[in-house]
Amino acid sequence: METVTHGERIVCITGGTSGIGAGLVAAFLDAGDCVHSCGRNPVKVERLLAAWPEAVAERRLNLVRGDIADDAFRARWVADIAERSGRLDVLVNNAGVILDSGTLEESLDHWRATLEVNLIAPFAMTQSCARLLESSSAPVVVNLSSACARHPFASCTSTSYSVSKAGLDMLTQRLAMALGPRGIRVNGVAPGVVDSEMWEAVPELMRETAERRHLLGRQAVMPRDVADAVLFLASPQARLVTGATLSVDAGYALG
Ligand SMILES: NC(=O)c1ccc[n+]([C@@H]2O[C@H](COP(=O)([O-])OP(=O)(O)OC[C@H]3O[C@@H](n4cnc5c(N)ncnc54)[C@H](OP(=O)(O)O)[C@@H]3O)[C@@H](O)[C@H]2O)c1
Repeated sequence: METVTHGERIVCITGGTSGIGAGLVAAFLDAGDCVHSCGRNPVKVERLLAAWPEAVAERRLNLVRGDIADDAFRARWVADIAERSGRLDVLVNNAGVILDSGTLEESLDHWRATLEVNLIAPFAMTQSCARLLESSSAPVVVNLSSACARHPFASCTSTSYSVSKAGLDMLTQRLAMALGPRGIRVNGVAPGVVDSEMWEAVPELMRETAERRHLLGRQAVMPRDVADAVLFLASPQARLVTGATLSVDAGYALG
């Protein structure tokens, strides 16, 4: 299989305006690639554009405002990527939310909204991008899962979040089965607790537990740690890796 080298790839990252997404945008731009990304909050969109003036001028960073849970937005965005870039080499389904905590206490509206962003949007983006990905010589999809997908940690207090990420892990495997024959690899990364806006919003219990569970001595994993794992999964070094979800959690899931 022919490989697309760093610096030539067309990359789409959902939710690239903060946290892990911003780390992913930086990692792919640093590698010289062309990045399409999105976010809802206009202040965060402007902040990211201001951080990358050269990439914006070179049209290597294409950032749009929109809600990834919105069918019409996704259709417009994928059409725009097709028009501007003509193909897609890497799709990273990164955007995710934790909206509530508790199990029986969570509102149904928050359950539905969590599943829309964390589970349905990654499926819909992959489905919509499949033909664009087929135009690449080395196409890859990477889904942002979580350590919470695999074990019902008491410290992860949002049940809808954990369930959405458990569903995403199965989605990664099902998509790998469906897209493997078309040459498209599909994998996931499962971070523990990452230093991001989502992390700032998590309950104190989870922060305290993280320090103990991160066996490699960090209180939080940094966005760049996660981005490096995504770079690996998107690289030729991972050419036979598909259907896998890689823990990037400093041992959180073992602790
Ligand atoms: N932080 C952690 O400890 C941790 C651990 C395990 C897994 N993860 C996963 O890693 C991914 C990134 O999390 P993070 O910690 O970087 O979160 P974050 O700092 O809150 O960033 C989330 C990004 O996604 C965007 N986003 C959220 N909902 C969106 C929507 N409906 N449409 C478009 N963009 C949307 C946000 O932009 P707007 O605010 O403008 O919408 C932002 O750019 C998520 O899937 C998360 O579940 C995080």
